[in-house]
Amino acid sequence: MQMHKRVVFLLGALGLVAAALSGCGGSGGDTILVGEFASLTGKEATFGISAHEGTALAIEELNAAGGVLGKQLELRTEDDQSKAGEPANVVNKLISKDGVVAVLGEVASSRSLEAAPICQQNGIPMISPASTNPKVTETGDHIFRVCFIDPFQGTVMANFATATLKAKKVAVFTDVKSDYSKGLAKFFKEGFAKAGGQISAELDFNGGDKDFKAQLTAIKASAPDAVFVPGYYTDVALICIQAKQLGLNVPFFGGDGWESSTLVTIGGSAVEGHYFSTHYAADNPTPKITSFVEAYKKRYNGKVPDAMAALGYDSAMFLADGIKRAGTTESKPLRDALAATQEFEGVTGKMAMNAQRDAVKAAVILQVKGGKFQYVATVAP
Ligand code: PHE
Repeated sequence: MQMHKRVVFLLGALGLVAAALSGCGGSGGDTILVGEFASLTGKEATFGISAHEGTALAIEELNAAGGVLGKQLELRTEDDQSKAGEPANVVNKLISKDGVVAVLGEVASSRSLEAAPICQQNGIPMISPASTNPKVTETGDHIFRVCFIDPFQGTVMANFATATLKAKKVAVFTDVKSDYSKGLAKFFKEGFAKAGGQISAELDFNGGDKDFKAQLTAIKASAPDAVFVPGYYTDVALICIQAKQLGLNVPFFGGDGWESSTLVTIGGSAVEGHYFSTHYAADNPTPKITSFVEAYKKRYNGKVPDAMAALGYDSAMFLADGIKRAGTTESKPLRDALAATQEFEGVTGKMAMNAQRDAVKAAVILQVKGGKFQYVATVAP
C-alpha cells in the first residue's frame, strides 16, 4: 500500500515536470508559450531569419525584465522553408500540439494568408510583423499586423515617382505568384494614375524565374521614365542585372520586398541608385532606434537589423503589451486588448490599431548607395 502510493505520487510529479518542460497548455505551466512561424530557410530566408532574430531579442529582453504577468515567455519557432503548404502545417502544429497562446508571423503576405484562417478558426490571435497585403487581416478579427498596408505603400511610391523621379511614364513588372506583388502593383497603378502618370507597359514574371529578358525587352520598347518592380529581393536583383545588360538604364524602384542585404550581394552595381519604400531606417538616430540597433548588434555579432528584424521585435513587444493590458493570456480578452491598442511605440514608430487591425504609421524611402541603404525620406500616413 505504502509502496503503491509512492509510485503514484512519483508519477504525478513527473507529469508536472513534463508539462512544465513542454510548456504544455500555453499559459497553464510556468511559462507563456508563444508560437512563431518564419522562412528560416529557402528563397526568402533573410526575411525569416531577420524577423526571428528581432522576435527572439524582444522575448529575451522581456524575460530579463521579469517576464509578463510574472511568467517567463517561451518562444516556439517553426521554419516554413519559404514554401507554400508549410505555413498551414507548422501553424496547425503550434496551435493543436504545442498549445501556443498567440502566433507571430509571417513576413511574406502569401504565407500569412495561408496561416491566418487556421489562427482565426482556433480563436488564437495572430500578429504578422510585416505582411502588407490588405487581405491578411480581412481574414478575421483575430488577425493583426504591426506594419502599414499596401494601399498606403503603393500611394507613397506613386507620389515618389511623380514628385521625386519626375516620371510621367512608368512600366510595372509584377510577380504573379505573390499576393504581395499583385496587390502592390495594383495600388501603385491606382495612385500613379491619380497623380497624373501613365503606365507604359505591364509585364509579369513568376517568383523564382531566372530569365527576365523577354519581358525587359518589351519594357524597354515602351520607353518608360522608370520601372516599378514590386517583388522580393532575389528576383529584383536578377531583374536589375538583366535590365542593365539590355541597356535599360532608367531608375528602378519597388517596395519593402527589396529589403535584404542579399539584394546588394547579388545585384551589385546593377541595383546601385535604385529606390524602395520600407518600414524603418536603421541609421535614423531616434533614441528608440539607436538602442535597438545597439542591442541587436551586440546580440548578433555586429549585424545591422533590417526592417523585418525591427518589425519582428515590435510584434513580440506588441503581444506582450496586449497580454499585460488583458491581465491574462486567454484568447478572448487578449484579442480585445490587442484590438483596443490606441498607442504603441515600436522601434518602427508610433502606431495605433485601426478598426481593421492594421497599424497606421509612417513609411520610409531608402536608396541603394555605395552598396548600402541610405535614408531618403519619411512619409506620414
Ligand atoms: N510586405 C511584404 C509582404 O507582405 C514582406 C516584407 C516586409 C518584405 C518587410 C520585406 C520587408 O509580402
